[in-house]
Amino acid sequence: MALFYLPFLLFSVSQFDGSYAGATFADCGDANKRLTISTGTVKPDPIQYPGNISASVDLIVLKDLPADNFEMKLDLTKLQPRKMTVPCLQDIGSCTYDVCSIINNHKESFCPAFPDPTKCGCPMKAATYSLKNVGVAIPNFGEIFVNILKGGYEGKITFHDKSSGTEIGCVAITFEIVPAS
Ligand SMILES: *[C@@H]1O[C@H](CO)[C@@H](O)[C@H](O)[C@H]1NC(C)=O
Repeated sequence: MALFYLPFLLFSVSQFDGSYAGATFADCGDANKRLTISTGTVKPDPIQYPGNISASVDLIVLKDLPADNFEMKLDLTKLQPRKMTVPCLQDIGSCTYDVCSIINNHKESFCPAFPDPTKCGCPMKAATYSLKNVGVAIPNFGEIFVNILKGGYEGKITFHDKSSGTEIGCVAITFEIVPAS
């Protein structure tokens, strides 16, 4: 009978000793969702600060997305030493982004994922978009931030059609930041 408890014990131990199994991405969309993701990875994992990251994700567009007024909102919470909302600093953190402008301003990263890379931009049509190694530059806020930023994070990325005011997608994420060695 004692063996029955072993998985729970292992789980509790891993929660407290800070061991980390890697970043996670999970769909949290509702019945109105027009997009979802199948797999996601971030490199390096854990994320190193200071340093930049590169993300890969398979984005599945179920129904054509908005042609404009298409927003992506990140709500980010740091888990240690206590839960706190991460502010939006220099476009990193709990920020809101205009998806169509991001695509238009980073065509070299996004266009290869489009079914026809020459027809790249909004509205994104129903299809699977394999985003590979999309670089995200993390501003270097200085050495003092190494200890402030290190730790576990959880967040929610929601996609909104601002014209109709509806949420059209949701991705739950977890990751960890460690000091760059
Ligand atoms: C991150 O990327 C930016 C812009 O490409 C670059 O200036 C910076 O040196 C990079 N930071 C690190 C730590 O590699």
